Amino acid sequence: MGSPPQSLRARIAIVGGGIIGLSIASVLGERGYAVTIYDPNGFGRGASWAAAGMLSPAYEAAGDDVHHPGLLRACFLSKELWTPWIARLGDAGGGQLGFLGNGSFALATTEADERRLARMTRQLERAGWPVDFLEKDDLVRWEPGLGGEVRSGLALTSDGRVDNRAVIAALLDHLASGPDVRLISEPAPLTLTGDRISVEGHDVAVIAAGWQSPGLSVLDGQSKRVLQDYIPALGALKAVKGQMLAVDGDPDRPPRHTLRHGSVYVVPRGDRVIIGATSEDGIEHRRVDGDTIARLRAAAGRLVPALSERAVRETWAGIRPGSPDHAPLIGPCNVPGVILACGHFRNGILLSPLTADLVADCLEPGPEPELAAAFSPDRFSPAPV
Ligand code: GLY
Repeated sequence: MGSPPQSLRARIAIVGGGIIGLSIASVLGERGYAVTIYDPNGFGRGASWAAAGMLSPAYEAAGDDVHHPGLLRACFLSKELWTPWIARLGDAGGGQLGFLGNGSFALATTEADERRLARMTRQLERAGWPVDFLEKDDLVRWEPGLGGEVRSGLALTSDGRVDNRAVIAALLDHLASGPDVRLISEPAPLTLTGDRISVEGHDVAVIAAGWQSPGLSVLDGQSKRVLQDYIPALGALKAVKGQMLAVDGDPDRPPRHTLRHGSVYVVPRGDRVIIGATSEDGIEHRRVDGDTIARLRAAAGRLVPALSERAVRETWAGIRPGSPDHAPLIGPCNVPGVILACGHFRNGILLSPLTADLVADCLEPGPEPELAAAFSPDRFSPAPV
């Protein structure tokens, strides 16, 4: 970008009020910036609301065949930030925000699953995060309710979880009570002036609008265009819809841990158990389909048969901001005055504290932080001809 703001009172516009934008606002507010955050669709009501709240560096980053070389490390680093982050949001015990670090189990029902878990184990061991392989007998000591199809699994002790909806509420309270942050429930008036895109009265615009970032409206003279017209890297983002449901839960009955099997997950949260999720490429609506929900419920019932009996409490869908290497775009881009913080795909909740720190570090004078450089949007910019 052009010149970074030198003044601690630099004015920052954040475009997008999901967990990423709210977290950035919170850190920038505390570092002395004057922040305005825009979201016409309800703060924290998009993908951040839909998420299951898993903090799963091991399963999400190591279980994924297509990923950015720095993603695993970033996911583990951000997981470590969650303990102080929760305390900062006023919940020293982690109770109200559903913060738990009791790990997850990645389950296998077939030999092919076991081979996949073995690959994940090797990858995690290479990165310095060993995991335990458990036979069924050992698994049921931890999770007595497992179904007959489950044959083995991995204990992923580094994984945790949080109640993402409670975290959003806490972030909003934190912003209301403390730092110099204004929330505006309207689209950000992004305007092209010369070679800069900005929001009037602000020095920098941070784009944190998830899958909707490429289509943000930009006023260019008398005409309106979309942000992707000016920032080609945003063309890499795509919508990936996920459908989910919640059934009745009970902390005294199984499951007690997050369970993973392929793309299906089961996450206990208070008096509910959340079951997810589909991955529907390019779908930009949030309609829920009864057959799909029934299939997810049946898949969860094969992992924990008792779940088949539980009443459905809620069904919903969210739209993930997908990127080609499944990693976010963080940092300055080809347009002066604009910093991107979008494309977190399946790891928006997990990566929110780290993203907030990286964006704040990008605003300080000096070289771009190493990790932000690794997630630079430039990796998706077409090479100049
Ligand atoms: N992080 C889980 C999901 O995106 O479905």
